[in-house]
Amino acid sequence: MRQLLITILCTLPFLAGCTKKSSNEIVIGQYGSMTGSEATFGQSTDKGVRLAIDEANAAGGIKGKKIKLVTMDDQGKAEEAASVVTRLIEQEKVVALLGEVASSRSLAAAPIAQSKKVPMITPSSTNPKVTEVGDFVFRTCFIDPFQGTVMAKFATENLKAKKVAILRDVKSDYSVGLADFFTAKLKELGGEVIEDVSYSSGDVDFKAQLTKLKTKNPEAIFIPGYYTEVGLIARQARELGIKAPLLGGDGWDSPKLSEIGQKAIDGGYFSNHYSNETTDPVAVEFQKKFKAKYNEMPDGLSAAGYDAAKVLLKAIEQAPDLSGAAIRDQIAKITGHDGVTGKISINDKRNATKSAVVVQVEGQTNKFVTTVNP
Ligand code: PHE
Repeated sequence: MRQLLITILCTLPFLAGCTKKSSNEIVIGQYGSMTGSEATFGQSTDKGVRLAIDEANAAGGIKGKKIKLVTMDDQGKAEEAASVVTRLIEQEKVVALLGEVASSRSLAAAPIAQSKKVPMITPSSTNPKVTEVGDFVFRTCFIDPFQGTVMAKFATENLKAKKVAILRDVKSDYSVGLADFFTAKLKELGGEVIEDVSYSSGDVDFKAQLTKLKTKNPEAIFIPGYYTEVGLIARQARELGIKAPLLGGDGWDSPKLSEIGQKAIDGGYFSNHYSNETTDPVAVEFQKKFKAKYNEMPDGLSAAGYDAAKVLLKAIEQAPDLSGAAIRDQIAKITGHDGVTGKISINDKRNATKSAVVVQVEGQTNKFVTTVNP
């Protein structure tokens, strides 16, 4: 009877002390959209992260221990992100967290990481608010004030477009922030937002908003959204006879974009963290290893995931012990890390100042157009 009671108690999730955990491994938690309408974000990131961890283990692990990665699917939902991160911390006893891609989901989980003092690195959330949550929250990518500047400059200088329309996702912190930063810079450069309309993630019919845009004759349309909606918007825009170039941000980065958008998205431009056309030796080496492991080319999220994992592993290696505070202090000290997506130095706001690339959609490939330095 007593034995039975112990068994029952030990299976209760809140009795984390009973969770089996071998002391010769270091557990890292990852949370992401492994399913749902942004599934390629989570899956691609996971591939990059796994490559970095496999490499570390092949080289003998860290502090004599193997690294174990536990990835949990948040289905692309903010509430799920909060709940799986709680589980990673309380049940899996992770020493640190990697995730999320989407800013809204990083924002839902970051307060939990902060209050539990478990360091978190987001590889690709670009909304400034994410790392403002607290001193345990980091990112290894640039932020949206920069990304908005890149695309506003590209519109006015490269495309000579001054009258721009915006289609923003009001359910996404990323989309709203990037639309605002883009608008501010465009005005500064003498441009004008002649129409600013909204949609919500999950929408499938954008005809009403697009019809409204069309009457204003925009010279370009900025759509800071994620690939599923952007692909549908592109098709519906072309069906309505809108010919203006379409512009966006890193949220376009998915092999699914051109599958959904088909011919309609061809020619569109977006800013990103990485391009496969890079000749940087660190990136070329990464592509080779990625191709060998997965038999496909990486996208920007795989590259960003790999970089974030490498930075975290370096910090764990340099930390005197495996406490959250010790690892946190070492992440904060990372400077000049030679990443696939560029040189990574964590600044006093726990962000990385890095260059961006602008690419042009051409079927399944994103053609490199230009690099923009901060
Ligand atoms: N930067 C986006 C966000 O913060 C996420 C993203 C990054 C999507 C890179 C695709 C590629 O929400």
